[in-house]
Amino acid sequence: MNDPRADALRGGYATVARAYSEQLGNELAGKPLDRGFLDAFAERCAGGLVVDVGCGPGQIAHYLASRGANIEGIDLSPAMIDEAISSHPGIAFRVGDMFALPYASSYVAGIVAFYSIVHLRSDELRAPFREFHRVLAPGGLAAIAFHVGTDTVHVAEMFGCTTSLEFQFHRPEAVAQILGEAGFTIEARLDRDPYPGAEHPSQRTYLLARS
Ligand SMILES: C[S@@+](CC[C@H](N)C(=O)[O-])C[C@H]1O[C@@H](n2cnc3c(N)ncnc32)[C@H](O)[C@@H]1O
Repeated sequence: MNDPRADALRGGYATVARAYSEQLGNELAGKPLDRGFLDAFAERCAGGLVVDVGCGPGQIAHYLASRGANIEGIDLSPAMIDEAISSHPGIAFRVGDMFALPYASSYVAGIVAFYSIVHLRSDELRAPFREFHRVLAPGGLAAIAFHVGTDTVHVAEMFGCTTSLEFQFHRPEAVAQILGEAGFTIEARLDRDPYPGAEHPSQRTYLLARS
């Protein structure tokens, strides 16, 4: 990701990382469909390395570790990585960019990217998806979640903290097509309503894509 965009994201998350971790650290307890999707993903990746790309404060990585996954996490935001390390000291987290993943080709069994493509326009997904495909072993899986739509939402306040972040919604068909162009086969798709009161009231899609 280019420097001005990366700096803007780092700045946007620096002010909210602590509150984000407090608010969403236990979010999966109230999201049974997400747990079911992650359970199937963890089972399919058993034995291999799974990377949580755009891990935020590490709650998804923590859940996958509890399901037996051999997992580590990377995120562009040092503040998010600090939260992840302090909340989950048993898991390796480090700063990194989904445009240049710090792994050799075919090294990884699974990538989970929950709501981490939300700051990219759909036409910007080609490079990170090609990078996902590069690091995944043949037959490896990418589990990708995002808000559905065509909106761009500017957020100036999150969990009571001042910030400035742009959230991009995506059409599932467009994301699936770009995954296909990057070499993936879509294995499963889950569309769900928002959990009332627990999250932004947007439709969500979860894709399981095989490399
Ligand atoms: C909405 S948060 C989602 C965090 C977490 N996955 C979750 O489900 O709560 C988006 C995260 O993606 C990270 N991110 C955005 N662009 C990234 C990039 N190019 N490489 C790595 N992480 C990125 C942000 O720093 C942020 O922590």
